[in-house]
Amino acid sequence: MSTLLKIDVSTRGSLSISRQLSSRFVEQWKKGNSAGKVIERDIATTELPFLELPWIAANFSKASARTDEQSVLLKFSDDLVAELQQADHYLIATPMYNFGIPAKLKAYVDHVVRAGITFRTNADGSYTGLLTGKKATVIIASAGEYTPGEPAEGLDTLKPYLHEILGFIGVIDVTFLQSGSTWKVDNGSETADAHIAPLNEQLMAAASA
Ligand SMILES: Cc1cc2nc3c(=O)[nH]c(=O)nc-3n(C[C@H](O)[C@H](O)[C@H](O)COP(=O)(O)O)c2cc1C
Repeated sequence: MSTLLKIDVSTRGSLSISRQLSSRFVEQWKKGNSAGKVIERDIATTELPFLELPWIAANFSKASARTDEQSVLLKFSDDLVAELQQADHYLIATPMYNFGIPAKLKAYVDHVVRAGITFRTNADGSYTGLLTGKKATVIIASAGEYTPGEPAEGLDTLKPYLHEILGFIGVIDVTFLQSGSTWKVDNGSETADAHIAPLNEQLMAAASA
């Protein structure tokens, strides 16, 4: 049975372009995976504390040496990691904020990139990602366009970052879909359906892969 982990980030509810795209993706995915399971992780409504010293101390203590308090502190992170371990396809739908990922998505990343669990350090100092055999589809909504080869491409830290961090934990099969110029929907000069239409083929292909 295939499992899809759907991670939505936008706070804009039904106005969100990334959420509209992720919903369509799931509809299509379900057609090809009728017995499959979808885990929904809504970052916008998930309380994601920034990492503080007690959490860091707990994380870097050996599991066998942790106090009960430390285990409780890590429980939420353990649950998030379990979702990643269970799923074979990750769908991350996120807005671009200030040329990068929203802080809440970064907080999520900080909770799931864990030594000995989602990556390991080798004797020679290199790293090996432990979430192997997975694939990811990343849907990005942005007001600007960051077309490859155009000058604005260099401003985009979102795609390179997610590409690197997913690779770091072992996810190397990553497809990016970007919906730029979302301001046209916000100001009413384009309907959401018309805006999304050019991405449909790519979206359906990623959801059917
Ligand atoms: C705080 C904030 C920062 C933003 N920064 C950028 C940015 O750097 N580049 C960009 O192209 N769009 C930026 N935007 C626009 C959003 O990426 C755009 O509205 C997107 O459609 C939001 O995603 P959603 O439609 O899924 O909610 C920003 C929006 C907000 C609220």
